[in-house]
Amino acid sequence: MILVQISDTHIDAPDKFVYGHFDTAAMLTRAIEVINTMDPAPDLVLHTGDIASHGDANQYAAFKDIADKLTAPLVLIPGNHDDRDALRTAFGGTPWLPTTGKFLHYILDDYAVRIICCDSVIAGETPGELCLDRLNWLDEQLSAVPDRPTIVALHHPPFYTGMTGTSAKGLSQGGAELDALLRRHSQVVRVLAGHVHRPITTSFGGTLAFAGPTTCYPFGLEIGPAQILSAANEPPAIGVHLWLPDATPTGPGLVSHVLPIGDWDPAITIKKADVRMVQA
Ligand SMILES: [Fe+2]
Ligand SMILES: [Fe+2]
Repeated sequence: MILVQISDTHIDAPDKFVYGHFDTAAMLTRAIEVINTMDPAPDLVLHTGDIASHGDANQYAAFKDIADKLTAPLVLIPGNHDDRDALRTAFGGTPWLPTTGKFLHYILDDYAVRIICCDSVIAGETPGELCLDRLNWLDEQLSAVPDRPTIVALHHPPFYTGMTGTSAKGLSQGGAELDALLRRHSQVVRVLAGHVHRPITTSFGGTLAFAGPTTCYPFGLEIGPAQILSAANEPPAIGVHLWLPDATPTGPGLVSHVLPIGDWDPAITIKKADVRMVQA
């Protein structure tokens, strides 16, 4: 199974540059061109939130115009820049998006790895939370199917990133409870998040947690005392998660790659059909 993770596309009005500088629509278009040329093709593309800049219908329509060019199926979860009702209106009728309920959380059961998509949004606020209702729902879903490898996805990283800029806030509530909950469910092979606009990996909940890169402007690696939040002129990227039969000495495992997106010369073939040479 190949799962592509895109995140934080921040689509704005078609002719608007975000922060006067970033053409987020063009950057998503380029990312989709790269995803569509992957060989083998991904089984699924998961968007880990902040689809739009301000969560209005026009921005979701602009996103759909671009995302419709994806050849792989797309699912998404809300971020703090999204609006639940507008998302339901834009993506209602898809088999994965619940049309009722307080939260936009759901399960994907049709893949080699089960994916539980959580809703960590507090409407109108930058940080997220997992309240008792949402934690209980997640606990029930994990308890119901304890023997299948599972990814838990949410927009806000539940761990401390070490970044000091204000938008590096993750969960304001529920992080410690989620850590304890996941430790009771050993089938969880990865926690996937977005929000911090750069790839970050750490241990969490007895498993690995990965905040995926953005397809638009990465945040700078600001870890100093000045608490700066900057948009870095680094290449955007996507996450590529591979479920491999022999990833660990004891069997299958999930291996996560980061694939930068940009316009550069094509790769140079060093040698064909000699895996040992490439590994050396
Ligand atoms: Fe974002
Ligand atoms: Fe966010």
